[in-house]
Amino acid sequence: MFLNLLDKLISPYLCIKTRLKKLRRYDFEVSRYYGNSLFKVLDLKLKYHYKNLTPFEISKEYQRKFPKKKHLYLYGETPLRVYEMMASRWDLGSNDRFTELGAGTYRGGLFLTSFFQCDYVGVEWLQEYAKFAMQLKKMHKLKPFTIICDDLFNVDLKDSNFIYLFGTCLKKDEIQTLCQKFSKECRASNIITVSFPLSDYSTDFITLDQMLLEFEFGLTTVYLQRVKC
Ligand SMILES: C[S@@+](CC[C@H](N)C(=O)[O-])C[C@H]1O[C@@H](n2cnc3c(N)ncnc32)[C@H](O)[C@@H]1O
Repeated sequence: MFLNLLDKLISPYLCIKTRLKKLRRYDFEVSRYYGNSLFKVLDLKLKYHYKNLTPFEISKEYQRKFPKKKHLYLYGETPLRVYEMMASRWDLGSNDRFTELGAGTYRGGLFLTSFFQCDYVGVEWLQEYAKFAMQLKKMHKLKPFTIICDDLFNVDLKDSNFIYLFGTCLKKDEIQTLCQKFSKECRASNIITVSFPLSDYSTDFITLDQMLLEFEFGLTTVYLQRVKC
């Protein structure tokens, strides 16, 4: 009873706080990144497309199709500043292929190709996200920008030298399966994970670098690792 009341009092406050935080982040992104006119147009089209049904709601709808699988996946986005920090610190450039496992709305890919000219591959199983990214790709003749609408576990990673996984909701056995895949297919790649190092799940990996960065849910560590020689 008391907890319910407390919840009712605190919820609106938290809601306003989250909205203000999002607005501040968007202001920051506009001033820092909208000088790049291609990215500005792409990002505004993305915002407009998702203005009624947000990526979070689309993800929730999708999860409802699997009522038996509780907590199938929680959607979350990597802030542009985090992509920028990773790309600059770890020298992402035009000779690199960056594969994002679970690409969401492909905002990260649009950002990385506009600012760092890398070859980008985004794997995402939600058709709604992939379909609109495909339209943007066609409209703006984006290349190299590859959209793969599939389960990330099925995709061949051999040609990518950067792999990015923001998979904080993956289960232990899924991360272990991915570790086996990385060990086989990514022997010379830079593998980036959010919140956990692969060495927590397998002895095959060595952490080369790490950064504490601000995500929507707060500060967390991003790890750069490789398969041990
Ligand atoms: C936490 S979101 C991250 C989105 C984006 N990478 C970012 O950082 O902004 C994870 C995304 O992975 C997708 N995803 C989860 N499991 C997947 C799977 N097995 N195959 C393909 N996509 C998956 C989800 O639909 C969601 O869009």
